[in-house]
Amino acid sequence: MAHISINDVTKTFHTARKETHALNRASLEIPDGEILCIVGPSGCGKTTLLNLVAGFHEPSSGFILVEGEPVEGPSSQRAVVFQADAVFPWLSVKDNVGFGLAAQGRNREKEDRVNHYLDLVGLSDFAKTYPKELSGGMRKRVDLARAYASGPEVLLLDEPFGALDLFTKEAMWLALKRVTALEPKTIIFVTHDIEEALFLGDRVVVMTPRPARIHSVINVPFGAERNLDLRTDPQFQKMRADIAHTLREVHHGAA
Ligand SMILES: Nc1ncnc2c1ncn2[C@@H]1O[C@H](COP(=O)(O)OP(=O)(O)O)[C@@H](O)[C@H]1O
Ligand SMILES: [Mg+2]
Repeated sequence: MAHISINDVTKTFHTARKETHALNRASLEIPDGEILCIVGPSGCGKTTLLNLVAGFHEPSSGFILVEGEPVEGPSSQRAVVFQADAVFPWLSVKDNVGFGLAAQGRNREKEDRVNHYLDLVGLSDFAKTYPKELSGGMRKRVDLARAYASGPEVLLLDEPFGALDLFTKEAMWLALKRVTALEPKTIIFVTHDIEEALFLGDRVVVMTPRPARIHSVINVPFGAERNLDLRTDPQFQKMRADIAHTLREVHHGAA
């Protein structure tokens, strides 16, 4: 776990013909072990913010600290999971999960860590299976186990469940909640699914259309133990409706 500090960060992309203002003066403090969900219209700059924290891009101005240290490029301290799974088809599930460890030369601890995280995501029986035999949800479990296995302090998740059907997505919510309860990480979770953000998050950040500004930060009052019935809770439903309303407003430039 690590504290993330985003300080007045702006990002402008310069391409041959144009400038794209993707992020405008974002500031956020994300405490140790928090799950922070970010929702906002498509194309607003959510992935850009995540990529800045990952160290894939440099801010145009402002700075980002993780545990007090400036982000100066990608690091195994910060694991990233995207919507498209990053499972290598030519490696078994076990070797996929151990890939980062092998790349870091951590072969001695590899076996134990791989088995531990396969167990945690519910894939122990599939260690020797090849990805082509896995469902979409199982492939995301492989991604999650691999992200955890290399022992990062921060997880950056960019619409990781965006391509899954509803029931698989629900199962992944529960899997992520279970894993993070057992082994907390500081997590930034980007999604355009408000229900997902409220179900998973300790706080939800609502972004405006591009150039993305932070419109509001909402505390999610539900405890760490959440089950799928939470969605029928009147307070949950009201919060979902309020966030949808806000997004609609910012989308039409009214807020
Ligand atoms: N590497 C890049 N070079 C140029 N423009 C980019 C780059 N990455 C993102 N953008 C632009 O920045 C804006 C925000 O993109 P992005 O962060 O991917 O949005 P979101 O994830 O919210 O859908 C878009 O207009 C996109 O085209
Ligand atoms: Mg995106």
